[in-house]
Amino acid sequence: MREMEENPFREADLSLRNHPESCVLVIFGATGDLTHRKLIPALYNLAADGDLPAGLRVVGFARREKSDEEFREGLKELNKQVSRQGHDDDLWEQFSQSITYHQSTFTDEDGYASLKVRLDEMEKDGASPNRLFYIASAPEFFDDILLQLKKAKLNESAHGWCRAVVEKPFGTDLATAQHLNEVVNETFEEKDTYRIDHYLGKETAQNIMVLRFANQFFEVLWNNRFIDHVQITCAEPLGMEGGRGGYYDKSGALRDMVQNHLLQLLSLIAMEPPADLSADGVRDEKVKVMKSLRAFKDAEDVAKSVVRAQYTAGTVDGEEKVGYRREDRVNPGSMTESYVALKIMIDNWRWEGVPFYMRMGKRLPKKGTEISIHYKQAPNVLFNAAVGAEAMPGNVLVIRIQPNEGISLGMRSKRPGPAATLQPVKMDFRYQTSFGKSSPEAYERLLLDAMAGDATLFARKDEVENAWRYVDQIEDAWHKSPSPPKMAEYPAGSWGPKEADELLEQDGHDWRRL
Ligand code: BG6
Repeated sequence: MREMEENPFREADLSLRNHPESCVLVIFGATGDLTHRKLIPALYNLAADGDLPAGLRVVGFARREKSDEEFREGLKELNKQVSRQGHDDDLWEQFSQSITYHQSTFTDEDGYASLKVRLDEMEKDGASPNRLFYIASAPEFFDDILLQLKKAKLNESAHGWCRAVVEKPFGTDLATAQHLNEVVNETFEEKDTYRIDHYLGKETAQNIMVLRFANQFFEVLWNNRFIDHVQITCAEPLGMEGGRGGYYDKSGALRDMVQNHLLQLLSLIAMEPPADLSADGVRDEKVKVMKSLRAFKDAEDVAKSVVRAQYTAGTVDGEEKVGYRREDRVNPGSMTESYVALKIMIDNWRWEGVPFYMRMGKRLPKKGTEISIHYKQAPNVLFNAAVGAEAMPGNVLVIRIQPNEGISLGMRSKRPGPAATLQPVKMDFRYQTSFGKSSPEAYERLLLDAMAGDATLFARKDEVENAWRYVDQIEDAWHKSPSPPKMAEYPAGSWGPKEADELLEQDGHDWRRL
């Protein structure tokens, strides 16, 4: 394992660090993409940094027949491609010895009984009595897995703790999310339930609270007296590669990204300072934001504030791409949106009158998630006659969630020279420059937190339900109203439909170019 000093994140105040406990991590859906691309590489990277608790064991649970060796080989191949810190064969050999495979369908009672026998035996052989069940299967099996765990009494451990991590999507609307919450809470107590939203594990998302509450000068201006509007953009050049269309066409941009990741980012931007940094302290404040989102009056109101669109054929990065409806596993007559833009109002004291514009789309020109805070103009009394002042934007604080993680502040400066000419300039903080090392992947932090029993960066039951309550109004207007708002179009490789531009233009704004 590498030396401790190499990791700058270790230098943080150790009293604020979580202490993950050793456990047996059982991954349901172990042959899936998430396990191969995210979970195992995250564990490997933690091992490389020496951050994995000693004695951690991993059991992959899935339907396909495989030996332990075959399972590890498949994981190794992917780890070589995606590991953040590269792949070291010796380290992999050492790390992968802790990984085994358990074959069963998700509905077979015997498969869970034999899993219990296996975990009990591992415990007798010295493995930790703590058990972390990570449910990363296809969502239609979430209920079955939870109920079977209970039936097999795998939700109890005589000598340690039992926790469940539940992947997204957490339901497809409020009713299904409430049902899933009931099933989860029949098997695991809320304090032992960890609903994943991987955006919360991103370093830059975690830094939003630090930016706001550990610096004096941002927070004092963080309200409707000084802020004109906020924009949140999440752009992806990817379309429906790798058979993703099957899932996505049933979901769409609103459910796939807005209900969870983007509303979480909005909550972090809009929340009040929490009473403390406990999981409930933070989540109480985020829930208040979700509850303050202004409800839509009717389908017409939704049409005025929300734009949905699908991409048509176009060029991304020099490559021709087909339109959404011609993608693999997508219904040719699909009415699922690959892009959504919203104007959200928050009805509370701090944000009264400040629009939050949000957009996310597939097949946009480049990958990038950023939040920009647009400040009101300074009083226009002294430099209003200066050259360039009239067309210049006010101050903009940009939080780059990914890539090129960092924060920049756009402001006006006098251009050197005899004339009173103003020019926009930028102060820039970059993670790479300041910390000299790539940030840990979101899943690294989230896995450690679940092992440490810290649910701060996981969604609580009421957060998920309130987010669905908001999103359901839009879905209902689109799919149940007699006169649904129209589906706009944008060519693949463009920044979205003109209707999304008009959404801002009517308020006198433009989308910020990433
Ligand atoms: C997932 C969505 O939750 O997040 C995907 O289902 C999306 O559609 C992905 O591509 C984006 O994650 P990231 O971390 O790459 O921004």
